[in-house]
Amino acid sequence: MEITKAEDNISQRIKAMGHRVEQAQAQDLYYYNQPISELRGGARVLVRGREMTMFASYSYLGLIGHPRINAAAKEAIDHYGTGTHGVRSLAGTLNIHRELEETIADFKHAEAAVTYSSGYATNLTVVSTLVGRGDYVISDKLNHASIVDGCLMSGAKFLRFAHNDMEGLENRLQQIPAGSTKLVIADSVFSMDGDIIEFPKVVELCRKYHAWLMIDEAHSVGVLGKTGRGIEEHFGMQGTIDIKMGTLSKTIPSVGGYVAGSKELINYLRHASRAYIFSAALPPAQAAAAKAAFEVILDEPWRVEKVNANGQQFIQGLKQCGFDTLYTETAIVPVLCGSDENAYVMTREVQHKDIFVLPVVSPAVPPGLARLRATVTAAHEPDEIDHAIDEIQKAGKKIGLI
Ligand SMILES: Cc1ncc(COP(=O)(O)O)c(C=O)c1O
Repeated sequence: MEITKAEDNISQRIKAMGHRVEQAQAQDLYYYNQPISELRGGARVLVRGREMTMFASYSYLGLIGHPRINAAAKEAIDHYGTGTHGVRSLAGTLNIHRELEETIADFKHAEAAVTYSSGYATNLTVVSTLVGRGDYVISDKLNHASIVDGCLMSGAKFLRFAHNDMEGLENRLQQIPAGSTKLVIADSVFSMDGDIIEFPKVVELCRKYHAWLMIDEAHSVGVLGKTGRGIEEHFGMQGTIDIKMGTLSKTIPSVGGYVAGSKELINYLRHASRAYIFSAALPPAQAAAAKAAFEVILDEPWRVEKVNANGQQFIQGLKQCGFDTLYTETAIVPVLCGSDENAYVMTREVQHKDIFVLPVVSPAVPPGLARLRATVTAAHEPDEIDHAIDEIQKAGKKIGLI
């Protein structure tokens, strides 16, 4: 029997989500999608007319609004305008794209780099260009959704190993028939947990089993390594990643994604990856901002030191209050709340004290591991971190979490 559109699955899904959001809003438990109306300097922002301290930002080095980066973006608009003439392969390439890609290659100690219009699109297109039917792709279970989607889209056999479980990774590698093409992919710093991949072991296993290695550095650029160059620098293992992926939307206050690697790899991606061939080039202002940001990271190394010191202060402070922050060692600090409901209520309590922090609930994290996904940046001062710890502690006590 025919059903009407109003009765079909699409309508049911739309209605169910509308209902969930309305219910959360009615109980003052909905804090997603709040517009920020102003940057107030440091880690302060204006939200719905209230000055709040930001503890949910990806801008790990506090570079949003940096005068040198803003100036580079403005200059690019005056020079090139706001858009491009299309996709990179046809009329979309500008000098600033090439300059940005050279800057990224230098920063990542790679021969070359290619940029895309988002980090999400980068993972989708790069994984699905490099592997396909008959190949194998092996991914950590907590890898970012864009990696998972790229693996699924590729048509390769998609194998996963338990989070950071190197025996699991080796078992997977052993399972693959000899002579097959293998790609191993992991986040460097896991986006919901803040912990770091067991990089030396992953590299060793990839070498042993002749697998390609791709690492997503979305949350490690600017954070790991003495000069903020990322995970290879952190472990003193330069030149060990085949495909160095990153975004231009976190530490780098712009938008876009990139891959750095050998000249041959980058040339291949420029001619075979669909997000390069079929999607518009990065706008010039964003490309110029990104280029300036890589330069600022190297010129202002105190920022890398400060984000790491701030991370340690925040993690240790929360642990002393009795919170479970999992295995984080970085600027991403999960504050475990248990149920989704607990995470929503904690958010409400803390937001009412002008601390801007947000919950992450299932399915983004496993059920029962809902959390505040707090972050610190180089823009925080130690007293702001102490104050946030204090407010999170009060909220935790109020709802019986600690
Ligand atoms: C690990 C990781 N990779 C990729 C992305 C996607 O990057 P973008 O937001 O630049 O599209 C994200 C974004 O949150 C991420 O956390």
